[in-house]
Amino acid sequence: MTRLGIVLSGRGSNFLAIAAQIEQGNLPAEIAVVISNRPDAEGLAAARKRGLQALSLPSKGLDREEYDRRLEAALREHQVDWVILAGYMRILSAGFIRAFPQRILNIHPSLLPAFPGLDAQHQAFAYGVKIAGCTVHFVDEQLDHGPIVLQAAVAVEDGDTAETLAARILQQEHRIYSEALRRLFTRPWRIVDRRVELGE
Ligand code: GAR
Repeated sequence: MTRLGIVLSGRGSNFLAIAAQIEQGNLPAEIAVVISNRPDAEGLAAARKRGLQALSLPSKGLDREEYDRRLEAALREHQVDWVILAGYMRILSAGFIRAFPQRILNIHPSLLPAFPGLDAQHQAFAYGVKIAGCTVHFVDEQLDHGPIVLQAAVAVEDGDTAETLAARILQQEHRIYSEALRRLFTRPWRIVDRRVELGE
């Protein structure tokens, strides 16, 4: 069974959506460990409540390389096959990314390459886009940049606020993250230049 290492910083709703799909038998994987750089992350408490391995790995006071070495060691200790970033709000070092080649995924709340970085839903709303959305992508050494596995579009409605828009984007995030994992775990795939090609 494919072993997932979930890495998060906050609420953990994307992690919970993935956990639910696994429980319902829709995603052939198991969660080996959930790690948070923030000890008070709701997602960590939710993982503990579910009886999952949940690890607090505070980043305060450590430089990025040192922190990422500890993160890598913890993931290796739990023998993870894939690193699943689920609302992880730190930039990963090149060393960490090279340690798990083509095995780190992220979800970002915009249609990349538009609006990388923080508060993407607010950025898109403030820009005045009519179509927003979310992206599941491989992580490479540039921020919010790697090859795209799946995207979902979300129309901006009259009367939306950044918050109502973000809530509808989040619903789509919960759907496409598990769907992206299912495709990668159950079908052959390869990355050609930066295109993710899925076979049957
Ligand atoms: C999600 O909207 C996710 O796309 C975003 O943080 C939120 C985490 O929510 N991630 C990023 O912005 C990464 N740059 P969650 O903790 O409830 O899954």
